[in-house]
Amino acid sequence: MNAAARPFRSVLYIPASNARAMEKASTLPVDAIIFDLEDAVAPDAKEEARGLLADALARHDYGARVKLLRMNGFDTDQAEADIAALGDLPADAILLPKVGSAEDVARLDRALGGSKLGIWAMIETPIGVLNAAQIAFAPRMEGFVLGTNDLAKELGSRARADRMPMQSSLQLALLAARAAGIVAIDGVYNAFKDDEGLRAECEDGRDMGFDGKSLIHPAQVAIANEIFAPSGEEVELARRQIAAYEAAKAEGRGVAVVDGKIVENLHVATAEVTLAKANAIAAMENAQ
Ligand code: COA
Ligand code: MG
Repeated sequence: MNAAARPFRSVLYIPASNARAMEKASTLPVDAIIFDLEDAVAPDAKEEARGLLADALARHDYGARVKLLRMNGFDTDQAEADIAALGDLPADAILLPKVGSAEDVARLDRALGGSKLGIWAMIETPIGVLNAAQIAFAPRMEGFVLGTNDLAKELGSRARADRMPMQSSLQLALLAARAAGIVAIDGVYNAFKDDEGLRAECEDGRDMGFDGKSLIHPAQVAIANEIFAPSGEEVELARRQIAAYEAAKAEGRGVAVVDGKIVENLHVATAEVTLAKANAIAAMENAQ
């Protein structure tokens, strides 16, 4: 599962205890959904939520949206019941919280046995960040979601608009994801009525290299979709770079110049990724 083939601009959390929100999500223009059994569901509502989740997946058509199921971690007494309930559901992957090492992932991989589900990891603890590289290469691993609220709690850091205290963690996780060729999704922006703040944080995550943003409310979807998509100008520049490079090659040159900047084969590769992403987004939007 990679970002060029499938877009991951907007990844919306939905409490699996909320049947109405799960139904609504089948009509929202999101690229992926995290059906949550962990922190968004109260301890005495977990069992009911497993049933509501199975029911929602059976009844609603989520189309091309990627379906991730967030279970409770191995540090809780809910993990076993979650795996038993989730293994055969029609979804894409299980999202394992509080992953600390590749062994946590291997344990889930073994427990899933013949299930077709992939595995995603929440990177949200200091040990998870430090072991991000081994986690990214663990069995069935397809993507990381950054858990920035848990990370801030564990680090003892304060929320800052520039996210300076979070930088090393975000970048280590991203480096590991890119080394393994898996998806990387940035953490949530808690103030779901603050569009300006969300926009700035989406731009920050996009510029760093994340594929998209995890979201907590439908009001955040349009901004994430806009910011994590290549802009019209970027698509147009990518086309011109590819054309200029092809023309240069036909004349026996290995380097072209576009808008006063050199274009070599590595820039062409980036331009092709931009076009592939734009095409994947268009396909996603046509399917919705
Ligand atoms: N996914 C899908 N639909 C959602 C949603 C979500 N995460 N959050 C809200 N909605 C829906 C509501 O059901 C409501 O739909 P309706 O009016 O068509 O019935 C609509 O959006 C407006 O909701 P609103 O009244 O503004 O929000 P709220 O006060 O009911 O809920 C939150 C606010 C933050 C509690 C809620 O958005 C939420 O539970 N978010 C997810 C939290 C989560 O999963 N956290 C774990 C990871 S950090
Ligand atoms: Mg968490």
